[in-house]
Amino acid sequence: MSDNKASMTAGGKTIEMPVSSGTIGPDVIDIRKLYAQTGMFTYDPGFTSTASCDSAITYIDGDEGVLLHRGYPIGQLAEHSSFMEVSYLLLNGELPSSQELADFSRTITRHTMLHEQLATFYRGFRRDAHPMAIMCGVVGALSAFYHDSTDIADPTHRKISSHRLIAKMPTIAAMAYKYSVGQPFVYPDNKLSYTGNFLKMTFGVPAEEYEVIPAVEKAMDRIFTLHADHEQNASTSTVRLAGSSGANPFACIAAGIACLWGPAHGGANEAALNMLKEIGTPDRIQHYIDRAKDKNDPFRLMGFGHRVYKNYDPRATVMQSTVREVFAALNVQDPLFETALRLEEIALSDPYFAEKKLFPNVDFYSGIILSAIGFPTTMFTVLFALARTVGWVAQWNEMISDPGQKIGRPRQLYTGPTSRDYVPLSER
Ligand code: ACO
Repeated sequence: MSDNKASMTAGGKTIEMPVSSGTIGPDVIDIRKLYAQTGMFTYDPGFTSTASCDSAITYIDGDEGVLLHRGYPIGQLAEHSSFMEVSYLLLNGELPSSQELADFSRTITRHTMLHEQLATFYRGFRRDAHPMAIMCGVVGALSAFYHDSTDIADPTHRKISSHRLIAKMPTIAAMAYKYSVGQPFVYPDNKLSYTGNFLKMTFGVPAEEYEVIPAVEKAMDRIFTLHADHEQNASTSTVRLAGSSGANPFACIAAGIACLWGPAHGGANEAALNMLKEIGTPDRIQHYIDRAKDKNDPFRLMGFGHRVYKNYDPRATVMQSTVREVFAALNVQDPLFETALRLEEIALSDPYFAEKKLFPNVDFYSGIILSAIGFPTTMFTVLFALARTVGWVAQWNEMISDPGQKIGRPRQLYTGPTSRDYVPLSER
């Protein structure tokens, strides 16, 4: 807390409010006593100017296109680190030593299997169910299977359930995929890395040996790293809000998955690839740019724009170069990549997008890579949920460990009828 104060006149009173400074980023005006002192609330739908918590995990400077995890720039982490190492960093605050990383990876590996009865749970879903629907259901159901780790007041329970969630998410995601294509579930293989194991559980079949392609494993691991955490976005805030009531961690993460599914959030990578397919060839781009600019048309360029980034999303830069690496490793080409590059070029030179500071976000290129690796579009958001689980549990843990934590309970501006007397049915 700094000595700075902000003053404000409201409800006929002038009050002073403390101003708090973080290590970097905008200061915040502490309005907690505003209602008590003035009888007024603040009004901020969508939380565009509201900080809901203190956090030491992730920092974003949207104007400069900066994303730091525990201070480390995402570009450096994507290039030099691994998803397991970044997971340790997010959970513990520091990069691990070799021994700490080996121990952490071993712990996660040892938790990848699911209770066998969960396999029968899948059979309750229609084969054509969206895998995100399955994820919501199965992750929520984990609390019914692992109730020995749901005492949220106990840090050991929190740690075990965090490890379980990170470890089991690839197994749950791969099983959701296998169920939709009618193939047998593939059990985890402890010899493989976190990401290699996920690829094997997804694409392996019992009839053949599955060889993990190192370049694909690396690209996939990098995609997980790029999605690991992103500050107080909609799904993370959902996890925190659900957790603020004391709900168990599995239920909270299921709530986060439900929020992530929406096309304005995690569903955008699926929507972006579908959009590129609809556009098809570069000659049709201008028509879609015109539609995106038309106020009377609900169409938006999917994978473009961001609540926080008003500059190039640093994750999109890494994604774009990863597309080329995956194409080279798999010896494939996808004309949609050319369409995407051209679309980006045309949009960025258009004053509409420049004035509104709309740039490609992480989802613009990720669908092209995931499709080249072999994932159907319905799995894209599932992969995002898998990777974001570590961010969700790190943020959830941070919140529960905060002694000042309170149940989240926003207020409202009421616009409904004022008090009126009940009218009996016979008189209506
Ligand atoms: N295409 C065309 N116009 C857009 C786009 C877009 N993708 N995004 C924003 N705009 C316009 C809006 O129409 C609005 O115009 P106006 O000021 O004339 O009304 C202006 O830019 C500001 O947009 P808002 O919706 O107010 O910005 P907000 O911060 O609320 O929304 C969001 C951000 C939801 C991401 C938005 O940019 C969008 O819908 N993008 C497409 C979906 C997408 O890619 N989502 C992924 C986000 S990243 C993630 O979740 C991992």
